[in-house]
Amino acid sequence: MAALREALPLTTISRTEVAIVGAGPSGLLLSRLLHRAGIDNVVLERRSAEYVLGRVRAGVLEKGTVALLDEAGVGERCRREGFLHEGIGIAFDGARHRIDFQALAESAVTIYGQTEVTRDLMAALSADGPAPRYEAEVIGIEDFDGDSPLVHYREAGETRTLRCAFVAGCDGSHGKSRESVPGRAYTAYERAYPFGWLGVLSETPPVSDELIYANHERGFALCSMRSHHLSRYYVQCSLDDHVEDWPDERFWDELRRRIDPEAAEALVTGPAIEKSIAPLRSFVAEPMRFGRLLLAGDAAHIVPPTGAKGLNLAAADIRFLAEALIEHYREKSDAALDAYSERCLKRVWKAERFSWWMTSLLHLFPETGAFGRKIQVAELDYLIGSRAAATALAENYVGLNFD
Ligand code: APR
Ligand code: PHB
Repeated sequence: MAALREALPLTTISRTEVAIVGAGPSGLLLSRLLHRAGIDNVVLERRSAEYVLGRVRAGVLEKGTVALLDEAGVGERCRREGFLHEGIGIAFDGARHRIDFQALAESAVTIYGQTEVTRDLMAALSADGPAPRYEAEVIGIEDFDGDSPLVHYREAGETRTLRCAFVAGCDGSHGKSRESVPGRAYTAYERAYPFGWLGVLSETPPVSDELIYANHERGFALCSMRSHHLSRYYVQCSLDDHVEDWPDERFWDELRRRIDPEAAEALVTGPAIEKSIAPLRSFVAEPMRFGRLLLAGDAAHIVPPTGAKGLNLAAADIRFLAEALIEHYREKSDAALDAYSERCLKRVWKAERFSWWMTSLLHLFPETGAFGRKIQVAELDYLIGSRAAATALAENYVGLNFD
């Protein structure tokens, strides 16, 4: 990379305070919060805006996440159009049981797609800036151990450089930010699960008013939604499966077999407008700060989607990061920057634990055999019969308090 720096013509170098790598929800939210605090920043995103909006992701927002969207001035549509859900259904053994968030944890979640969160952030940024730079791929980050890091990127067929005071690595699990850190500087903790989720989006009314998480001897299933006319469903599948192995008919038959009879009866099917397979993984990189490079969101950690924590964790990182950077510029104090990694990781590991637990409870793990299955059913029975156990689920699902 040193060679690359020497070769750069000066005209391709620009300057900002915070260079943000990636225009997913993490990067856009940070850009917006910093802009509102008067801190100059630039977002570099390797894909086009259309591509970013085309990705289908989960859609369960904790109250703290909605509050942060409000703080960023983009919470209005989510509050108006999102659905407030005060519980979920857990289906197993031919019946469905409700976990009542309001009664158990005095809280609720908002159902509002991540794509819509991204759309709202994009609209706000294009209205009053700073406009993210799309199709600008970061190819290297250096000097983050000093005061003036450099971010090299390719845009319009040219190699350009952004000089900055801080780099926010918001570039997801396959980004350049973590890759720019020497492997010996961080510890990676990882668990890969031996199955995936096959997801279908369909223009059909949701099968139920609330989400249904189903444990079945054929595997996990989830009924979710985006609106009154748009449903999102998932079934656990093999990692060797391809989307082509799952014509719509087969998907709906399998889903119907795994959910409770009442839901199976009510299910309205239709053509899939999107169908994709995602592997399930737990991953954490520690620490999340390397000098003036700070990782946030999927760049630092991945959760399996079972607890719907991915976007909420990303939002929590961004809340801490924005606070820390604002404190640096306003109060000339680095105390919050110094605490950033530890503060995030405390929350991250609690969400990792919860997501791992939900995944373990609800999926079919062939290698644990009949014993594993019996233990799962016993735990599910305990969950629906014990207020303490149900409260533990409810508290984690709606989102733990901020320390
Ligand atoms: N240069 C510029 N942009 C990059 C680069 C690069 N080298 N590499 C990756 N990116 C971009 C990706 O194209 C993507 O748009 O970084 C963005 C990262 O966005 P996300 O993957 O959405 O990650 P994040 O913003 O942290 O959002 C976390 O997304 O995956 C879900 O479960 C997760 O809901 C959570 C949320
Ligand atoms: C979704 O709506 O896509 C969704 C909801 C809840 C989850 C995961 C995904 O736990």
